[in-house]
Amino acid sequence: MRVYVLNGPNLGRLGTRQVDVYGVTSYADLVELCVSTGRELGLDVVVRQTDAEHELVGWLHAAADEAAAVVLNPAAWSHYSIAVRDACALLSGPLVEVHISNIHAREEFRRHSVISAVATGVICGLGVDGYRLALHHVAARRRSEAAGDGS
Ligand code: DQA
Repeated sequence: MRVYVLNGPNLGRLGTRQVDVYGVTSYADLVELCVSTGRELGLDVVVRQTDAEHELVGWLHAAADEAAAVVLNPAAWSHYSIAVRDACALLSGPLVEVHISNIHAREEFRRHSVISAVATGVICGLGVDGYRLALHHVAARRRSEAAGDGS
């Protein structure tokens, strides 16, 4: 089963960008973490990052067409992009919003995400482990859907 792990602007700089906030894990390490977690869980994980909003919107449209699950770190777009939110609202599969940092403990402008209201759930402040946890959730959810218990 296909899961898209989509990352917004500046996340390609992980490992060198504000390491006190985002940690020392590089973007390449994050990709490896997601792919290996997916392998463990029997998920086909595709990890992408973009600094171009229209590209993310296109990837969300493709995920919507496939009814795929999405793990999304919208980065700065979380706080103001209605275009990304509207694309997220098209998804029929689960959407887990992930933030590496605890956005609620940071500057005022980061404390609200326009995406959260259309997400299935949100993980924030747990570092890159949030991605691993999000993939575990997606796998568990898909297993219970397949078993037909809807839990
Ligand atoms: C972030 C938090 C955002 O406020 C910020 O713009 C990011 C990363 C996070 O993962 O903690 O780029 O989404």
